[in-house]
Amino acid sequence: MICYRNGEYLPRASATISVEDRGFIFGDGVYEVWRVVDGKLFELDRHLARLAFGLSELRIASPDILRGDALREVADRILAQSGLLEGHASLYVEVTRGAAPRTHAFPPASTSPSVFVMANRLTPADALRERGAAAITTPDIRWLRCDIKTIQLLPNVLAKQAAAERGATEAIMIRDGVVTEGSHANVLAVVDGVLRTHPLNNLILPGVTRAIVLDLARTLGIEVEEKAVTESELFEADELFIAGTTTDVMPIVRVDDRPIGAGVPGETTKRLSREYRAFMEESIAAERDVVTRSG
Ligand code: PDD
Repeated sequence: MICYRNGEYLPRASATISVEDRGFIFGDGVYEVWRVVDGKLFELDRHLARLAFGLSELRIASPDILRGDALREVADRILAQSGLLEGHASLYVEVTRGAAPRTHAFPPASTSPSVFVMANRLTPADALRERGAAAITTPDIRWLRCDIKTIQLLPNVLAKQAAAERGATEAIMIRDGVVTEGSHANVLAVVDGVLRTHPLNNLILPGVTRAIVLDLARTLGIEVEEKAVTESELFEADELFIAGTTTDVMPIVRVDDRPIGAGVPGETTKRLSREYRAFMEESIAAERDVVTRSG
């Protein structure tokens, strides 16, 4: 597996970073994850925009490879050399404030950000999608800037581990009595026939999948309300699902060992899941056409 690190391509096993990297010392950085289908990046621009937002909020200079088609070129090379030009994969990009002697305040302006890019094979969990997954609830103990995709993921790691230890797929985080999101996906519910999800603010990540699913729902004439689901509404919901780049639309049929709705994937969820996959496939096909035409 080939990865990219600060301008170099090298085998992942031999790629190292400085022990003084502020990502390692402080979690001082941001990341992004793209879905890759048949070697093509899905929603390149939306993820790049979110990464640019995070870098600007943290006042980390945006590295050159995040400009124009540069990331596509890096991705093409890594995907090709890692044997990931067919089927599903993910592309991970991390940018940290760089390596410098440990002081909490920013290092000298001459410090270059560190950039790391890798790709991994991804197997969509389609059998689980048919059955529906289980989730647990857990307190949302994160900071108040969850809209920035920082590499500081300890609450998410602990939440997901708690879910795994209880045989569940995802942890649904609850803050002040309402559902915020999952450990690495947004949470949406059908409550009284309305598709509900937490509004965009500092308490959730503005998910690319969430945005696409909400657009698809509106197009299909499904009523949408960006209003947080309360903890009690969660257990009374007709349907529940999570949505994210590596998750797609995944029905949640049990929460804390209680069935949601009929305890099987709901009709609206199944429809949105199909529509989302179709949207992804169409957009990848369009991307392939652009590449073919431009030769
Ligand atoms: N996670 N919420 C959180 C906390 C996330 O980490 C993610 C994505 C999402 C969904 O966002 P999107 O639809 O843009 O992927 C919501 C990525 C995939 C990860 O950490 O691997």
